[in-house]
Amino acid sequence: MRCYVEPSPAGGYFVRLRGESAPLSRHDTEEEAEAAAAAYERGLAREDTAEHVVLADGSEVRIRPVRPEDKPLFVAGWSRLSGESVYKRFLQPRHALSVDELAFFTEIDHVDHEAIGAIAEDEGVGVARYVRSAERPHAAEAAVTVVDDWQQRGLGGKLLRRLCARATENGIRVFTAHLLAGNEAMLTLLERLGKVTVTRRDGPTIEVDVELPVELPTLEHTLRAAASGAVRNRLPPP
Ligand SMILES: CC(C)(COP(=O)(O)OP(=O)(O)OC[C@H]1O[C@@H](n2cnc3c(N)ncnc32)[C@H](O)[C@@H]1OP(=O)(O)O)[C@@H](O)C(=O)NCCC(=O)NCCS
Repeated sequence: MRCYVEPSPAGGYFVRLRGESAPLSRHDTEEEAEAAAAAYERGLAREDTAEHVVLADGSEVRIRPVRPEDKPLFVAGWSRLSGESVYKRFLQPRHALSVDELAFFTEIDHVDHEAIGAIAEDEGVGVARYVRSAERPHAAEAAVTVVDDWQQRGLGGKLLRRLCARATENGIRVFTAHLLAGNEAMLTLLERLGKVTVTRRDGPTIEVDVELPVELPTLEHTLRAAASGAVRNRLPPP
C-alpha cells in the first residue's frame, strides 16, 4: 500500500503517501481517512481509457481528465518540479501543495474548472488546467505544468491543445494567463493557440489574453445540443 493513515497533530486524520511529507487529505474520522486511502489506492491501480500519446522523441504518455483520486500523482509529481519551474507556475517560491490546494486541483466540475493530466509509468508528469473567470464567463485562466525531465518534448503543447478543445466545448473563447514576461516556452505555446494580447504588465510579470480557435463542434457536443433542441432551433425553416 502506498497510502496510509495517521492522526493529525491538530486533530482528525491525515492520509499520506509513502516517501512524501505533504499529506494528501485530512478527515475528521479514521474511517473516512481509511476510505479515502483505499480510493487513492484504487485510483493508482486503475487501468482506464486514457488517450495513449506518443511524443516526438518516442516517449509515451497517457492523457486524461484529472480525478479526485489523483492526489498521490500530484504530491509525487511536485517532488519532480525544480524550484524554477514552481516559481514560473506560481510566481512565488512554494514548498508543497496544501491539503486544500490538492482538493481544489483535483475535485473539479470539468465545465468551469477543467484539468487534463499526463501519466507516464504510473507517475504524473504534466497537467494543463483552466478555471473560468467569474467576471468574464467566456474567459478562463489557463496554466500548464510539466515536470522538469519531461519538458521540451512537446508534452506541454499537447496538453494545452486538449485543454483548449475542452474549453471551447464549454463556451470559453479566451484564455488568460499570468506569467513571467520571460517565460518563452509558455508564450510560444500560447501563441500557437491564437492571438496573444498583453493586457497588463507588473514588474517581471505579464497578463495576457489569448483568443481561442473556433473548433468544429464535437459529435458529443452536437448530440447534447440536439437533445436540448438548440440545433433544431438553429436550422432554417423547411
Ligand atoms: C511552460 C511549459 C509547460 C512548457 O512545457 P513543455 O512540455 O516543455 O512544452 P513543449 O515541449 O510542448 O513546447 C515548448 C516550446 O517552447 C519552446 N521554447 C522553450 N524554451 C524556449 C525559449 N527559451 N525561447 C523560445 N522558445 C522556447 C520549445 O522549443 C518548444 O517549441 P518546439 O515545440 O518548437 O520545440 C513547461 O516548461 C513548464 O512546466 N514550465 C514551468 C511551469 C510554467 O512555466 N508554467 C506556465 C505558467 S502559466
